[in-house]
Amino acid sequence: MPGRLVVLEGGEGVGKTTQLERLALRLGRHGVQVRMLREPGGTPVGDEIRELLLRPGPPIPPRAESLLFMASRAALVGEHVRPALARGEIVLLDRFFLSTYAYQAGGRGLPEDEVRDANAFATGGLVPDVTVLLTLPVASGLARAATRGAADRLEQAERGFHDRVEAAFHRFADPAWQASHPECGLIVPVAADGSVEVVEERVWRVVATACPEVQG
Ligand code: TMP
Repeated sequence: MPGRLVVLEGGEGVGKTTQLERLALRLGRHGVQVRMLREPGGTPVGDEIRELLLRPGPPIPPRAESLLFMASRAALVGEHVRPALARGEIVLLDRFFLSTYAYQAGGRGLPEDEVRDANAFATGGLVPDVTVLLTLPVASGLARAATRGAADRLEQAERGFHDRVEAAFHRFADPAWQASHPECGLIVPVAADGSVEVVEERVWRVVATACPEVQG
């Protein structure tokens, strides 16, 4: 089986991590070799960068913030993602470069084409097979995230920032936007409201359609 890269994306509190775990279990039941990874983090340097980026503290200038996410990404792709794909595994990634388009281009206002070029440098041009974009109104997502404990640096950002992130994710669901951004691959929006089981089913349908071989 060819390696496949499946990404879960979305704003704060949309339930990505829960859904990724359920997807991994389901793929495992189909006998598929799965590797679960998340951004930022997943390597020794990436874990330190994650800590630096998420710890509440003085603002990090947007370009510096972007490059820190990308440094973590470059390490993860080189050390884990590409080797796992080469072994024919399914890599499930909790966020990838679409988050930089949403948070640093959309949210912070950096030029999207510059973010795109820097991402290409960080990943060596790796394109996901499919990105499942979990969608939920900002207020519901932030309320869910708040139940997880102390807010991290990004969650603490002003409401306008999160609204701009949501608007950006909304744009990425548009087939016209995707046609002009082939570096992002296929992006499929999935409503994240409803029970965990209902959302799991929606996510599964998207992944099984994009990667039919996972159904055995
Ligand atoms: P999370 O994966 O636990 O949600 O935390 C990661 C946070 O970092 C989340 O607020 C989204 C943010 N982020 C960016 O701002 N840019 C990026 O490129 C990535 C991968 C994450």
